Amino acid sequence: MAWILLLEADLFTMPTTDPDGFCPCESGLLYRDCHQAVREASPEDVLDVGRRVYADRWGTNAGFYEKQGLYRKLADHLFSFTRATKVIDIGCGRGEGLAALVEAAGAGAHLFVGLDENPDCLAAAARRLGVGTPDTRLRRVGLDQREYDLEFVPGRLPAPGRIVLAQTDLLRQDPELDELLLVARPYDAVTQWFSGMHSAREHDRIMKDMQIGSDRVHRMATDLAALEYAANAVRDGGIFHVVTRVAGDDVRLLREDTAEEVGALASHGPITLEELVLLPYTEPPLGPRIGVGAPGSSYAAKSKFAASAIFRLDQSSA
Ligand SMILES: C[S@@+](CC[C@H](N)C(=O)[O-])C[C@H]1O[C@@H](n2cnc3c(N)ncnc32)[C@H](O)[C@@H]1O
Repeated sequence: MAWILLLEADLFTMPTTDPDGFCPCESGLLYRDCHQAVREASPEDVLDVGRRVYADRWGTNAGFYEKQGLYRKLADHLFSFTRATKVIDIGCGRGEGLAALVEAAGAGAHLFVGLDENPDCLAAAARRLGVGTPDTRLRRVGLDQREYDLEFVPGRLPAPGRIVLAQTDLLRQDPELDELLLVARPYDAVTQWFSGMHSAREHDRIMKDMQIGSDRVHRMATDLAALEYAANAVRDGGIFHVVTRVAGDDVRLLREDTAEEVGALASHGPITLEELVLLPYTEPPLGPRIGVGAPGSSYAAKSKFAASAIFRLDQSSA
């Protein structure tokens, strides 16, 4: 199947390996550019290391995409359906997508909310967007060896503003944040542009509780969580915008396969797929980054596209 991420290796049983060999997670990266730092971190440090390394590596991808104008194209795709001035960006990462959305919206009244679990990504987003770094809301609770749990610290919601960043975990109940977001309802759009999890996440208790053993299953879970945000917060006729990386040389077939995959989301909430556009792009070729497919795999060989799926909210069907 062309649908990615292709990280199907069982994260819980993955062996360690030679630093200069390929990482057994099948990312297509060298072990030293991928899982090594997390595998070698102490139990106390594993979460911090996982988040920091992910934020740094994703910076390579996001910077590369930004130079290609990809974020601007995604914002334009959304704005061709609605003038989105109140938006929740799920998994906002380092803020390149939010910055493109803010730019597309131009002057006037806005509310752009960026949510992410990774404080290092949020700190980078805050610098980029010129807002304060959000407070840490998720506290690590040690369990056994490397396994950890996360719990919310109450009373650390972000201050109001035109651009608001907040730490949350989509897979954990967060009624305090939900209440804050819903006060500003309705939103024009919820966006989820590219998904992915840091390598320490495999030690997070919630992964076992939810039986998530691969990046792909984690993405499915976060897609559903993002859809729930959209169903609760977006106005009737507003947009849920999901972007995923796909690859293939037969564009017609790839479009059909992708439409089938993303279209399946519509059976889980009050949304209809309005348009799917495949935007050609290139991946950064070297160095620490977030990989998308094993060397020599069909993904690595094929043309790459950002699959930009626009769903329309139909609250009457909810
Ligand atoms: C591939 S990055 C994409 C970032 C951004 N949307 C972009 O396009 O540049 C995925 C982001 O989703 C965040 N993320 C993944 N799982 C999450 C979860 N369960 N809760 C909150 N954020 C999550 C990660 O921390 C990461 O910053």
